[in-house]
Amino acid sequence: MHGNLAANRRLLESLKASLRAANSIEYAVCAPFPYLAQTAAELKGSGLAWGAQNLSEHDSGAYTGEVSGAMLAEFGCTYVIVGHSERRTLYGETDAQVAAKLAAALRNGLTPILCIGESLGERDRGETEAVLKRQIDAVIAAEGVESVARAVLAYEPIWAIGTGRTATPEQAQSAHEYVRSQIAALDAAVAARLTILYGGSVKPGNAAELFGMPDVDGGLIGGASLVAEDFLGICRALGPR
Ligand code: 13P
Repeated sequence: MHGNLAANRRLLESLKASLRAANSIEYAVCAPFPYLAQTAAELKGSGLAWGAQNLSEHDSGAYTGEVSGAMLAEFGCTYVIVGHSERRTLYGETDAQVAAKLAAALRNGLTPILCIGESLGERDRGETEAVLKRQIDAVIAAEGVESVARAVLAYEPIWAIGTGRTATPEQAQSAHEYVRSQIAALDAAVAARLTILYGGSVKPGNAAELFGMPDVDGGLIGGASLVAEDFLGICRALGPR
């Protein structure tokens, strides 16, 4: 819940001027609902995609205050973040609800960015893999492994989000490798193609070593995405892919 019209315009203009989607690199800006129209207009013709940060699991009806996938799709939205840890912890979204939101995104032709990740307590108790498995299994049980094939995954350890404390490249790699192996056990082809982003205090100074890990395919950037130079520095760290 950051931004305002003037700051968004400056940020989007900087990104538009500096970023070009390349063969295997894609950039997207996920903005709060009121700024999606502005984001879409600013990014038109730039090759940069845009998305929302949440959606309802329902397509229409008496759900005051909610925004549906159908509404997002009508405006040309490409991506939508689903199950961000802040939605799970602050707004009580359950694994089942997250699975239903992922289904709603797919049903409406949107690509869900499915966030998973453990809390500090869970990591300290050695439960990281069990938490990731529970979060992935909930989606697969409800929607099948094919649904994961049409999504982007984002591993976001809660203890690293907005804290300045980044997962080490080895910690990120270990979690990503585990996630990919869980999918591979069901469908090796889906696992091989799957994009798994890392999120949690990614900065220009640590991005290259995170993105250098074999199973880290990109980033989901929070705080650093609000400062054009920082975000562009992170994008440069992707290197040629
Ligand atoms: P930070 O990059 O600020 O840690 O946020 C990560 C995140 O939650 C992106 O969705």
